[in-house]
Amino acid sequence: MSSVHHCWSSADFRQIAKRRLPSPLFHYIDGGADDEWTLRENTAAFDRYRLLPRQMVDNSSIDLSTRLLGIDLALPLILSPTGMTRLFHHDRELAVARAAAAAGVAYSLSTMATTSIEDIARMTTGPKIFQIYMLRDRGLTAEFIRRAKAAKYDALCLTVDTPLAGHRERDLRTGMVMPPRLTPASLLSFAAHPHWTFNYLRDNRFTLANVAHRVDALAGGPMSLIDYVNSQFDRSVTWEDAAWMAREWGGPFIVKGLLSAEDAKRAVQSGATAVMISNHGGRQLDSAPAPVDCVAPIRDAVGRDLELIVDGGVRRGTHLIKAMALGADAVSFGRPYLYALASGGQAGVDRLLTLFRDEVARSLALLGVTSVRTLDQSSLFLGPKSALGRGDP
Ligand code: FNR
Repeated sequence: MSSVHHCWSSADFRQIAKRRLPSPLFHYIDGGADDEWTLRENTAAFDRYRLLPRQMVDNSSIDLSTRLLGIDLALPLILSPTGMTRLFHHDRELAVARAAAAAGVAYSLSTMATTSIEDIARMTTGPKIFQIYMLRDRGLTAEFIRRAKAAKYDALCLTVDTPLAGHRERDLRTGMVMPPRLTPASLLSFAAHPHWTFNYLRDNRFTLANVAHRVDALAGGPMSLIDYVNSQFDRSVTWEDAAWMAREWGGPFIVKGLLSAEDAKRAVQSGATAVMISNHGGRQLDSAPAPVDCVAPIRDAVGRDLELIVDGGVRRGTHLIKAMALGADAVSFGRPYLYALASGGQAGVDRLLTLFRDEVARSLALLGVTSVRTLDQSSLFLGPKSALGRGDP
């Protein structure tokens, strides 16, 4: 049987996840919107930047630590919020949050999580962010802010790129429904993954833990819960709502899902202290640019007023280094830890984070840079075909 100990990169975890998960669930993680151009571009864009090593630097000690959102992190990495985690492993969000705590990185809990705000706070010790939407149900939105404050979350993260759901054609083709159900399209795949199916049936407490109480009155079970959530996307949300939320929260406040420098300036005016430069992992607007390509213009526009986190396409330690050399303060990723979770629960995520940290440390040493905090554009190769468009003559 495949073991996470044979994984050496996030691509290896992806292969195991593909074997372990019924295909509707694997493709729910793996897929993006429409033609998936943006999904591919998010990682491909990193390949257009090259690193220029400097030699004869004493790099016997490498410092990966940073301070972000008022938190000390062992590595400038956030685990992005992802919903429905119970579907991928029975240890749910707890396994991921515990692995993040062990690695000294921050964990973001999604509004759509299958574990509650309070359980994550009570059962894990690391830095925590709560991801929120401005829901039509403003009462529930305000309740989330109060609960995240009471549970002492370190930061609040408002996702702004989902006024409606992107069109994910893989989900339609594979027969993905929430929660998973046997359908003619998915039947064979569930039968072919008895290990996952056994664990799901043994402990099938699939619930959106943070919103379930709101729809209990509807008495419809999980399906009505999903309908309720879908009905909550609000296309009338504006920067005034973000400013209201920043005031209510009163702490480190991230706006997630921006790509434009003008929007980043509006985020500062609305009280954001950080931005996750993100296209939702290519799951929303196909043809949106890669987050890494948006860092330099946004940094130029906002100066040091905002902490910038590159979210999307990060798969390698060198991707973190390139993002920070371009002006980011940190990176985040979603799919890599979901693949690792599906491959082996917390042990999988632990190993992924160890491999990733080692990659950053090794690449920094080879680059001749001793601290992630001192990375700047001098580490980027600006020769012919430079992605920054500043090729040498
Ligand atoms: C997501 N993402 C997401 N974002 C968010 O703000 N709230 C959410 O509930 C979810 N749920 C979710 C589920 C799954 C299965 C995926 C893959 C992604 C987006 C996520 O936070 C992040 O922006 C992307 O995953 C980043 O891209 P990479 O790292 O997956 O390439």
